[in-house]
Amino acid sequence: MNKLIDGKAIAATIHEEVRQEIKRIGGRGPSLAFLLVGDNPASESYVRAKKRACALTGITSILRTFPSSLKEMDLLAEIERLACDPSVDGVLVQLPLPPYIDETRIMCALDPEKDVDGFHPLNMGKLMRGIEGGFIPCTPLGIRELLLRSNIEISGKHALIIGRSNIVGKPLAALLMQKREGGNATVTVAHSHSQNLSSIARSADLLIAAVGKKGFVTAEMVKKGAVVIDVGIHHSSEGICGDVDFAGVAPLASHITPVPGGVGPMTIAMLLKNTLLSYKRRVMIHPDEKT
Ligand code: GUN
Repeated sequence: MNKLIDGKAIAATIHEEVRQEIKRIGGRGPSLAFLLVGDNPASESYVRAKKRACALTGITSILRTFPSSLKEMDLLAEIERLACDPSVDGVLVQLPLPPYIDETRIMCALDPEKDVDGFHPLNMGKLMRGIEGGFIPCTPLGIRELLLRSNIEISGKHALIIGRSNIVGKPLAALLMQKREGGNATVTVAHSHSQNLSSIARSADLLIAAVGKKGFVTAEMVKKGAVVIDVGIHHSSEGICGDVDFAGVAPLASHITPVPGGVGPMTIAMLLKNTLLSYKRRVMIHPDEKT
């Protein structure tokens, strides 16, 4: 059995599924607008990768770039314009935003029906309540998809999520405890104030590291046979690495995601799926929906 979960290969399969479905549906095809503020090199590179994936699957993408001196009201005006444009199915504001722009105000200004990132409070609320028909944030959705497509049992397992961000930790907790396939886990969310983290971590069947600290999860924190999912991305002189000390942890884990090539490509694959979903809701009478 191969313990390495190949996110790149799974994402490639999903890209192909999305491409085929877009071809089958026909019509104008889905379109996604990216709003990029400032000159954060990591954000620029993520948006480039997302745009490339759109182009390869038949999604039209629009990029609006703004200087870091952009006024919040001008960003709000652009979001309003895109909300009113019937040819746009998805709007993505790349985060982080410059500190003087109020992220919450921006997220609230998005049209929830075009919020393919799932960050609008209405979509976050739908996820919390288990209501279908919203959008689920791409990284948590990608993690669930990785687990499902790798035939990893989630139901009844103890899932520990390290990190409580709005982008990953909080929505992933809601997703893994949902009463449905890919859910029913016993979820713990740990963070920088958690005490006895190592002992909590050693009781986890499924450990998801989304802390943003390079090599934070070490072998002492992992139970033998646990499934380890690494959400971190850190650029260093030795290349890209994650929140997990891969060399130390891999021998203990039953399954583990690499960095790069694990969760990252799945985030992009889920963005394509969410954009397709938005398009289907817009152009089809009965989209056969399963998020
Ligand atoms: N910054 C880091 N991850 C994400 C993401 O999934 N979506 C957006 N919009 N910004 C991000």
